[in-house]
Amino acid sequence: MVELTLPKNSKITEGKTWKRPTGARHVTAFRVYRWSPDDDANPRMDTYFVDRDDCAPMILDALIWIKNKIDPTLTFRRSCREGVCGSCAMNIDGTNTLACTKGMDEIKGTIKVYPLPHMSVVKDLVPDMTNFYAQYASIEPWLKTKTPTPEKEWKQSHEDRQKIDGHYECILCACCTTSCPSYWWNSDRYLGPAALLQANRWLSDSRDEATGERLDNLEDPFRLYRCHTIMNCAKACPKGLNPAKSIAEIKKRMVERQV
Ligand code: SF4
Ligand code: SF4
Ligand code: FES
Repeated sequence: MVELTLPKNSKITEGKTWKRPTGARHVTAFRVYRWSPDDDANPRMDTYFVDRDDCAPMILDALIWIKNKIDPTLTFRRSCREGVCGSCAMNIDGTNTLACTKGMDEIKGTIKVYPLPHMSVVKDLVPDMTNFYAQYASIEPWLKTKTPTPEKEWKQSHEDRQKIDGHYECILCACCTTSCPSYWWNSDRYLGPAALLQANRWLSDSRDEATGERLDNLEDPFRLYRCHTIMNCAKACPKGLNPAKSIAEIKKRMVERQV
């Protein structure tokens, strides 16, 4: 029988409320998910107050400010701080997005921050991306050719190059995949929107010569066909991409090759 209640140790409890910065006149409150594998405690929500006159405007700036000034144990990933590396993806105010491109001013009232949903948590705001990356690797994201390698380069016309627009910009942040209900329930077998958008990137590349092989690899009731066009993925993508459209294109390629 399906178990509909959560295990006791997964329930989120009330955490610590940290001291307000003294003398601060412009303060924003944060509620942040905390969990550590190093103790037996349940996850908790800690409350922090950020002095906006001492902090840059983005959510990531606030998390760094909290880490530097209040609580060095707060754990999150970040690298580029400009929407390029994809590592600061988290659930902010109920939406999966990048902490470095989301401004504090875009949210009214207390700002709630959780890790990306439906992933195992490594610590605090850091999700375990192992399965996500393994699924990405499974689509073999590199140029596959059979003809001899040209002396200088694989040439591509301007028009053919444009066919990978809307794909190459993906930064593998997983905002789309972790917002997809089909992925939540079948993440062990369904590849999810990010990996499928990437699969379509290689299917759309005029230089690639492994189209049949790539489609064979996707022809599966779970790997591809779990997408039910719910469109959460397109809504969630911080780069404005449309994985659902890519998935529909792959399905179309499947049909066309049978004709
Ligand atoms: S359109 Fe497909 S991939 Fe996108 S959220 Fe819906 S089910 Fe998931
Ligand atoms: S398609 Fe968008 S949301 Fe999905 S992984 Fe790529 S950049 Fe992130
Ligand atoms: S820190 Fe690189 S995308 Fe946010």
